[in-house]
Amino acid sequence: MLRPCVSPPEPQSVLGAPTTSALFLVFIATPGSEDEISDFLGDAGGLKRSVGFRVPEARLTCVVGIGAALWDRLAAGPRPAGLHPFRQLAGPRHTAVSTPGDLLIHIRADRFDLCFELAQLITDRLRGHATVVDEVHGFRSFDERDVLGFVDGTENPEGDAAVESVLIGDEDPTFAGGSYVIVQKYVHDLHAWNALSTEEQELVIGRTKLNDIEMPDEDKPPNSHLALNVITGPDGEQQQVVRFNMPFGRVGADEYGTYYIAYARTSALIELMLNNMFIGDPPGTTDRILDFSTAVTGGLFFVPPLEMLETPGFASAGAESAPAEAAAERPDASDGSLGIGSLRDV
Ligand code: HEM
Repeated sequence: MLRPCVSPPEPQSVLGAPTTSALFLVFIATPGSEDEISDFLGDAGGLKRSVGFRVPEARLTCVVGIGAALWDRLAAGPRPAGLHPFRQLAGPRHTAVSTPGDLLIHIRADRFDLCFELAQLITDRLRGHATVVDEVHGFRSFDERDVLGFVDGTENPEGDAAVESVLIGDEDPTFAGGSYVIVQKYVHDLHAWNALSTEEQELVIGRTKLNDIEMPDEDKPPNSHLALNVITGPDGEQQQVVRFNMPFGRVGADEYGTYYIAYARTSALIELMLNNMFIGDPPGTTDRILDFSTAVTGGLFFVPPLEMLETPGFASAGAESAPAEAAAERPDASDGSLGIGSLRDV
């Protein structure tokens, strides 16, 4: 029997080759601004086209992610299965903090001026309706190295494998074509890091520094970054996410950082990696990279496919019926964060 041809939902521009610039904005939504934010979501693509169309070679893209609490305020229907407030992980030595965030804007291009122009237009558009609580200007360092000096992103899946890794499929059909994204802003103790020899640094990461070759498994310490982040599924296949980390910093302030951003088809996979890093695998064997890197933010967002994002009026009908779970799981304000991740009951 012939079936009607239904094309799969078109995703946002989640995938792509690394760019030379990126700008990350995290917003908190103002109570009562659901309709305006919903209108913005419908227009985000148009704003991006206004800036990017004139300079196609700069490959400007903009991905919009929505946090759990805002989702509940905007959407009429259920939440995507893997969307919840980012869960703080307090390990024996290090903590993955959870910080407030309703909207994530991930802007990328090969020209920083375009990223800046679009960030300005978006922020102007949301003025009075959403407030920027975190802003990071990322740059590509030479050789795709992070500020620790290691090539970062080498083992990202490519082509079909990348699509398979990041886009939701039949397992959650309502949200097919969507994706999950986790962001964390890390600041590094570069003085302590640079006091290590190159050989010691390579044992932290699990790859060689100069030519970026993976160490043989038998030489990789169990607390190395790679040993804890290579996850194998029941079928023996490696389960992958796609990372677009960017270095950032201010030399005068002695601030050197990595903005970690990973897209995946399931938030649970990124959370498992975080668990391995912060709690340890086995528990107590935490990621050595954390002895030199502190996570100062943490957020989880759902990236709706384009049509869902652009649906007029995205619908604020869910505002009254949000699950109590959202409130229960909200980032803990007692950790010194602003504690305004959800404003529904503020
Ligand atoms: C301080 C922040 C971080 C830095 C500087 C960093 C750096 C690196 C570097 C240099 C590599 C090796 C090259 C590559 O394949 O990309 C790598 C690999 C990887 N990292 Fe990170 N990373 C950071 C945080 C994280 C976090 C928070 C996660 C997961 C939650 C993560 C997951 C991975 C994965 C999955 C790989 C690839 C492993 C493989 O397939 O070989 N990273 N990272």
